Amino acid sequence: MIIPHIGFGTWPLRDEVARDSVAMALDCGFRHIDTAQAYDNEKAVGEGMRASGVTREDVFLVTKVHFDNLAKAKFLPSVRASLDQLKYGKVDLLLIHWPPRDDALFDPAIDALCEAQGLGFAKHIGVSNFTPKLLRRAVKRASFPLIANQVEFHPLIDQTKLLAAAKELSLTLEAYCVLGRGKVLGQPAIQQVAERRGLSEAAIILRWVMQKGVIPLVQTTKCKNAKGNLTALDFTLSEPEMNAISLLTKTNQRFIAGGSWAPDWTDGA
Ligand SMILES: NC(=O)c1ccc[n+]([C@@H]2O[C@H](COP(=O)([O-])OP(=O)(O)OC[C@H]3O[C@@H](n4cnc5c(N)ncnc54)[C@H](OP(=O)(O)O)[C@@H]3O)[C@@H](O)[C@H]2O)c1
Repeated sequence: MIIPHIGFGTWPLRDEVARDSVAMALDCGFRHIDTAQAYDNEKAVGEGMRASGVTREDVFLVTKVHFDNLAKAKFLPSVRASLDQLKYGKVDLLLIHWPPRDDALFDPAIDALCEAQGLGFAKHIGVSNFTPKLLRRAVKRASFPLIANQVEFHPLIDQTKLLAAAKELSLTLEAYCVLGRGKVLGQPAIQQVAERRGLSEAAIILRWVMQKGVIPLVQTTKCKNAKGNLTALDFTLSEPEMNAISLLTKTNQRFIAGGSWAPDWTDGA
């Protein structure tokens, strides 16, 4: 797998909190940092990476193009601005943050994403918040492989169809809102596994996501939580444990609906 198995999210961290949290996460062992133009923290993220004891080559850095920057005239200048903010010549993965609201922008946005890779601004490219239907269309249009789709994914949402589409198209799902910003914590089925194993609920949830073949992103400002979250790399859930947690997906709750810029989530899903 090209993308490290777990990533550190940076929304809604800003300024020195973002810088210090990124440095803390890298020093704790994270090697995958997720930012976006929309988070208004790319400068601080770059500073945090340089403040850590970890070299640039060892970090998988992801940023995302804002939905207001998808038109041809804005796309590449916005990527150049991101790189200026980060103070790095390229990112490891460049994503379109949300599918274009204007259908006429769809193909030009995918073309510009590929051009960004061709120009060396990104080692790899992908998308975020794309439904199965939009994903198929994007892959068909793209002149370079799309390697990832970053989406809401946790034990309380049913993303079976999206997972199947990603497999069919040979791309990886990255999971955001894995802890549902706290709302996924407190589920008895997860608590029982956590208690039995003497681990945190967060570690169990992150591990469940990983064993679904998905790469979890998780954000924290606390060193203790960052270290605890990384323990998800160190154990394996049994099939009965996986199945017990998977039953929760029947509730099918989406926490990040996305407002007016969101796609029709039922579209091919
Ligand atoms: N592509 C998209 O549209 C999109 C949308 C949303 C998010 N994202 C990305 O995904 C990242 C993660 O998603 P998210 O921030 O929505 O949600 P999340 O990771 O589910 O939740 C973050 C919250 O969980 C808490 N937390 C972290 N580890 C914990 C632990 N071990 N125990 C208890 N609480 C813990 C953190 O608080 P403490 O500081 O107290 O630990 C933080 O408030 C974002 O930062 C962003 O980079 C992408």
